[in-house]
Amino acid sequence: MKPTGVKIVAVGRHVPERVITNDDFAQILDTSDEWITSRTGMKRRHWAREDEATSDLAVVAAQRALEKVALTPNDIECYVVATATPDYQFPATASVVAARLGAANKPAFDVEIGCSGFIYGLIVASSLVRAGLYKRVMLIGAETLSKVMDITDRSTAVLFADGAGAVILEASEEDSLLSSELGADGSRPELLYVPSGGSRKPMTAQGLENHEQYAKMHGREVFKFAVTKMIDATDIALKKANLSYKDIDFLIPHQANKRIIDAAAKHLDLPYERVLINIQEYGNTSAASIPIALGEALDAGKIKTGDVIIFVGFGAGLSWGAIAWKWVA
Ligand code: UT7
Repeated sequence: MKPTGVKIVAVGRHVPERVITNDDFAQILDTSDEWITSRTGMKRRHWAREDEATSDLAVVAAQRALEKVALTPNDIECYVVATATPDYQFPATASVVAARLGAANKPAFDVEIGCSGFIYGLIVASSLVRAGLYKRVMLIGAETLSKVMDITDRSTAVLFADGAGAVILEASEEDSLLSSELGADGSRPELLYVPSGGSRKPMTAQGLENHEQYAKMHGREVFKFAVTKMIDATDIALKKANLSYKDIDFLIPHQANKRIIDAAAKHLDLPYERVLINIQEYGNTSAASIPIALGEALDAGKIKTGDVIIFVGFGAGLSWGAIAWKWVA
């Protein structure tokens, strides 16, 4: 029988070497370790070097995933990168990554939907496999958010960070993808955006002077939206899969704020050990946060065959999504 399902067979992850602590920010901004820890749960984050780009992080994460299952880059039939911080406005970072890995002729494209990138990317990549187009697809959530941080803006600079997580998806008789719920509302892009440098407002000298090359966020509004959507999307995904809260073995949420995750976990009545949180170590790595957390959990031996995982994310767009995923070895 032709396999029509999809499963994840390997996860690789990578973060840049440079660590920035809350105290490092307290030395240059009007902030404190106490404020950042209590408001966000973050303690440290990794920031890329000036000469390190998103593709550099993605390539290492991809190589680590390939090593885990002894595959070569050409065994992957299609590459997808989820990122809001591509190397260039064009070409796609995925094509740069595939070429750097030595798989220059494979199809490769990016998914750009902010911090929901991994969730959307997982649906796109899984669908390619389930439709029978490709037997193996690599999805990499990779970001260098530090490159769009305004180091003089305490309300964003302390939050966002860099990293990459790569998953290899393979055709499978048993299907991991149980259900999904995706959404987006672009009526107020300014809630979380980079004002200049796109076609709406090309970069000018004045724009640079106004720091419009950097991310701006209405934190409080995004916070409220995030809690609501995380809960709603999870509820709907569970319902679509005929599951209830108690069927969840692990919640792997986008790591934007520990208070957002705690609120969702409370609503879902999930004990602490079933909610994967690594925000203290990495900050908000956008499209990379979920695959990094998944990779850590697998390496720690936490996840076993048959476990039901909820991947849930939200972010710029505004956008959101939840996926019910059964772990198949
Ligand atoms: O992944 C993409 C999606 N992003 C998110 O989900 C982020 C969602 N938002 C949040 O996580 C939170 O809203 C923040 C962490 C960004 C802010 O926390 P908050 O509890 O919502 O604080 P606030 O924005 O209401 O600000 C409270 C105060 C303000 O001062 P005033 O106006 O009360 O005097 C801010 O200026 O905290 C101030 N503040 C800071 N103080 C010290 C903002 N950033 C800092 C800082 N250090 N780093």
